[in-house]
Amino acid sequence: MSRYKISNFEEYFKEYKKSIKDPKKFWDKIASENFTWYQEWDKVVDFNMAEAEIKWFVDAKVNITKNCIDRHLAKKGDKTAIIFEPNNPDEASQSFTYNELHQKVSKMANVLLSQGIQKGDRVCIYLPMIPELAIATLACARIGAIHSVVFAGFSASAVAARINDSECKMVITSDGGYRGNKTIDLKGIVDEALVNCPSVEKVLVAKRTNTDVQMKEGRDQWLAPLVEKASDNNAAEIMDAEDPLFILYTSGSTGKPKGMVHTTAGYMVYTAYTFQNVFNYEENDVFWCTADIGWITGHSYILYGPLLNGATTVIFEGVPSYPDFSRFWEVIEKHKVNQFYTAPTAIRALAKESLDYVQKYPLSSLKVIGSVGEPINEEAWHWYNDHVGGKRCPVVDTWWQTETGGILISPIPFITPTKPTYATLPLPGIQAVLMDEKRNEIEDNQVVGSLCIKFPWPGIARTIWGDHKRYKETYFSTFPGKYFSGDGALRDEVGYYRITGRVDDVIIVSGHNLGTAPIEDAINEHPAVAESAIVGFPHDIKGNALYGFVILKETGEKRDKANLAKEINQHIADHIGPIAKLDKIQFVSGLPKTRSGKIMRRILRKIAEGDFSNFGDTTTLLNPEIVDEIKNGKI
Ligand code: PRX
Repeated sequence: MSRYKISNFEEYFKEYKKSIKDPKKFWDKIASENFTWYQEWDKVVDFNMAEAEIKWFVDAKVNITKNCIDRHLAKKGDKTAIIFEPNNPDEASQSFTYNELHQKVSKMANVLLSQGIQKGDRVCIYLPMIPELAIATLACARIGAIHSVVFAGFSASAVAARINDSECKMVITSDGGYRGNKTIDLKGIVDEALVNCPSVEKVLVAKRTNTDVQMKEGRDQWLAPLVEKASDNNAAEIMDAEDPLFILYTSGSTGKPKGMVHTTAGYMVYTAYTFQNVFNYEENDVFWCTADIGWITGHSYILYGPLLNGATTVIFEGVPSYPDFSRFWEVIEKHKVNQFYTAPTAIRALAKESLDYVQKYPLSSLKVIGSVGEPINEEAWHWYNDHVGGKRCPVVDTWWQTETGGILISPIPFITPTKPTYATLPLPGIQAVLMDEKRNEIEDNQVVGSLCIKFPWPGIARTIWGDHKRYKETYFSTFPGKYFSGDGALRDEVGYYRITGRVDDVIIVSGHNLGTAPIEDAINEHPAVAESAIVGFPHDIKGNALYGFVILKETGEKRDKANLAKEINQHIADHIGPIAKLDKIQFVSGLPKTRSGKIMRRILRKIAEGDFSNFGDTTTLLNPEIVDEIKNGKI
């Protein structure tokens, strides 16, 4: 898979220019030279940006797991495909060769078929970071079932909402999960969720923690005995290029979570290509992405991208702080990791601890280190570069989104000179542009604008499950004819991009995308709450934290505020998950609103940040006096 690797900066520019001049030819070559197809395409791309209709490799037939697994077997069947590193370092790690992965995925695929799952059915996977998660996900792809992996930190009602939105027929879960020194009752959460999920017929349960769980007769079955009985012979389903591969939910600024739909061929080509180029993967390297498979980063760069390249990929069950802050570095040393990919929030948390943790390990196997999920501040960038990369490993600051399927803007290691806090240049095939407030394309450099992409790429999500209108409105209507990312960016004098953050009401907390609306909805459901508004404010480790302004009902006014704040946070944890808890809650008597009733979040953000200098024009507010009251009451 090295034919599509870029080898020097000149070649990058050449490739880039070629890719812009003739995107069809560019992607046609990559797709035809590097994958196994049942049938090739009639047309490389067919699109109408105004209608948000995009198709790649039209009418081609393919199965992504054939490309992830089967085609490697002849030459590297005995190569390690997956290394599983458990939460507890005293538990032995496991590894699976491509031959073993083939056998496990085939068996699991046959289990799904025997349980009545067919091509096009949706399967919810709610598992901790254990091998079964990878195997179940790939098994769905093998038979053409659409996987919807839900991060195992979401609460029962969040799981139920996701299951119901796409009417999943089956849930695959485990008895429990380990995370640091906690054990999480995953089966219990699924049981609670399923009270309200009429579409679910079957639940398969993997064993991880050996905790006692309730098994509902006729619905729930242990996974292991089914797998044991299953044949390991499974002919992969022939999929159309545009058949959905998976749904993955991401928060929007309004409304319910968006089920982003990724389709088969384009996603395959794009994740394989970006993995190869952004991480400079070489045969026999060990690649480790610390994300959870429940997020897009895990889908694309723990599973699909690495396996499509026949790489060795690490699945890590634990957390960076358990049993102590040296865990990441210990794992890198143990498995001789060559490419390491993590999030700024983890880097900042680890940088706060003693340097001894990281300096205990030589980390000499590392070649490339990556960052993803949120802007990496200068201090964290340098710490990562100096103490983890030893100043010899390029830091690839990769910008992308659930919606984009794969990395769009990133340095190419050993080729693009890096610059702290800059994701640098768009990858070949990616036509990034900045737009001004008047919706014109900004030609100059050293300016800030809204980051858009003006030509489709193979990995772009095709729709929102069940709501194409919302897809079109969210991504293609602000700047007609272009994909709008929702992010702002600065372009420097040489054309490097620096992502400045969201320009909408999505807040990135510890690298997790959180919409304000669903959190506010959860708070407002608390019986003592009348109304609320959430904004982000800068936080040393999390990047951003959540600040909630809450108006109480009369009944709430009489209650102890500290207790109420705790209850509200518990309420959020129950409705969404602990990741959405508020760092600060301020009870207020009103919220600054425009005459049309819109909350002026700009003012609330300034108050939350403790910046009282310039609130701008407040005279147009319906209730300007409230600004002083909130400011004076800031906690
Ligand atoms: O704001 C950007 C931020 O994360 C958002 C996408 O979040 P999600 O869909 O959860 O995917 C995260 C992993 C790909 C973006 O809109 N973001 C992601 N990467 C970066 C980033 N912000 C700055 N720099 C990055 N490298």
